Amino acid sequence: MPFRPRYTGLIERYRDRLPVNDDTRLISLGEGNTPLLKLNNIPKVLGKDIEIYVKYEGLNPTGSFKDRGMTMAVTKAVEEGSKAIICASTGNTSASAAAYAARAGIAAFVLIPEGKIALGKLAQGMMHGATVIQIKGNFDEGMQLVKDVAEHAPVTIVNSINPYRLQGQKTAAFEIVEELSCAPDFHCLPVGNAGNITAHWMGYSEYFEDGIVGTRPKMVGYQAAGSAPFMRGHMVDDPETVATAIRIGHPQSWDKAWKVKEESQGWFDECSDEQILAAQKLLAEHEGVFCEPASATSLAGAIADIESGKIPEGSKIVCTLTGHGLKDPDTAIKQSTAPMMTVEATLDAVRDVILSNMTD
Ligand code: F0G
Repeated sequence: MPFRPRYTGLIERYRDRLPVNDDTRLISLGEGNTPLLKLNNIPKVLGKDIEIYVKYEGLNPTGSFKDRGMTMAVTKAVEEGSKAIICASTGNTSASAAAYAARAGIAAFVLIPEGKIALGKLAQGMMHGATVIQIKGNFDEGMQLVKDVAEHAPVTIVNSINPYRLQGQKTAAFEIVEELSCAPDFHCLPVGNAGNITAHWMGYSEYFEDGIVGTRPKMVGYQAAGSAPFMRGHMVDDPETVATAIRIGHPQSWDKAWKVKEESQGWFDECSDEQILAAQKLLAEHEGVFCEPASATSLAGAIADIESGKIPEGSKIVCTLTGHGLKDPDTAIKQSTAPMMTVEATLDAVRDVILSNMTD
């Protein structure tokens, strides 16, 4: 039978596990159902016997995991009669909010830190017709402004403090369990506001409590060293990292994330910018998977913990790749070592390049 039902997004798919009813108008762009890719080459490079998968969330409609939460948040905002949504963002939330607002026919206002968001994300917000407000401050200051302004203007906040966001995002854990037929031993994620690690734990726990799966993973959250409040044990006022998506010093899900760590018996750790970029490149060069720098933090951290033995051989690991590499072409080009050359448009010139670049 060559036909199958059209995939219409994660709310439709997990309708009975999400707060919607038959009359709810769903605002969807076909999000979710992203590939869970088994890494073939990196375990060999590491010389370790491990089963490691990446959940490629960059293949969501706007190129990041935010779409899972945004479909729910915007669906509920529209259901409640809201005509406008607002968020602070390091880029991906704003891109997603802009797209889903366009789909719903409502307004989007997005606050972004001036000069500190990747170019692709800025293009998305602008293209989808959001009102883009650059602030002379960082994400944390933008978040405070959003909370303040929402008390004085008829706008719905769609940052992850909106509880519907986490409801949508928990579905990534459902998909992983369904495809592996079990929970992984470890689930590694980059952590900024810590909404996503919280949402994944909710998803795993729901399937565990319903007896669909007998175990839950240890949740491991990695931060960029310059923006690592969970490692410092307190908020950080001047976060800095090349992974601009997680340049966050005041995580909104602070208490929830500590609870996830305790309940799952997982841990937090930090990665340097060099480790993050090296993992991004390793994945691109050895597996054909291009993710943005922040996303590679999950793999960078996992590699360090595999090498130290903290994640033992024989483990089944899932690393979430939160956003697509095309979001941040500048950083990719800057760190690329691939030979780039300009030659005469002749057969000889092109053949010479090929022959001098063949490895064997
Ligand atoms: N990875 C990417 C690519 C992100 O964009 C974010 C967050 C995270 C990881 C961290 O997820 O906050 O749930 O711990 N980006 C937000 C934004 C802050 O505005 O796009 P978290």
